[in-house]
Amino acid sequence: MNKLIIANWKMYYGPVKAGAWVRAFRRERLPKDLDIGIAVPSVSLAAARASLGRATIPALCAQNVFWEKEGAYTGEISPTMLVEFGVSLCLVGHSERRRYLGETDDMTAKKAAALQKAGIVPVVCVGETEVERKKKQTKSIIKKQVAKAVADLKPDGRAPAVIAYEPVWAIGSGKPCDPVMAKEAHDVIRDVIGSAWGPRIKDEIRIIYGGSVTDRNIHAYMTTTGIDGALVGGASLDPRTFALLCRSAVPA
Ligand code: PGA
Repeated sequence: MNKLIIANWKMYYGPVKAGAWVRAFRRERLPKDLDIGIAVPSVSLAAARASLGRATIPALCAQNVFWEKEGAYTGEISPTMLVEFGVSLCLVGHSERRRYLGETDDMTAKKAAALQKAGIVPVVCVGETEVERKKKQTKSIIKKQVAKAVADLKPDGRAPAVIAYEPVWAIGSGKPCDPVMAKEAHDVIRDVIGSAWGPRIKDEIRIIYGGSVTDRNIHAYMTTTGIDGALVGGASLDPRTFALLCRSAVPA
């Protein structure tokens, strides 16, 4: 299975800049054996899709979704609406949404299940805070987050989700988690998946790392067993830097 690297633009780039980013990125040389996604703000999905045309690289990833198909849910966006833009991935449970918007494990689980029904792969984000790590609660926190988030997913012969391990203290801090330490967390997550879905999916599921990943440190993550890719915030905002990061991850 290819490694997977997803750019997470967060709340950057409206339609005009999103279109320009995609056009610039498409001009870059990219490794063939790498899956690449871009998580763009909802209002920029149409522009990103227009600049992509029928191209599937990078794959379009949404940053948020609501779990109902339609209805009186002002401001929300349904999985079927994302499908109209050719979205194939969607982040759920990102720590910034947990922190600023009150997203809980239960909401994350509902979103993940609704995405699966619509044929979109949820990218379930989990990770401990600095205080939790200091209290040695890392394992119990990520175990709980993962078990709850995937509870309503059905493995239908293949892994129905990607899991992103993102220690909160490493996000946007310039303090990346040491790859060996990240691997320990990935192993915990893989065990939870194994108990839920069996040994084959335990091996197959992609568990990616996020938190201050750059073109300089990506190689160390990609060469650590059990780390299957990366979720990249700050270092994805410049299309050329992000392309360089992709080339540093996997030889072109
Ligand atoms: P960062 O963000 O790469 O800027 O640390 C990662 C993320 O939040 O997905």
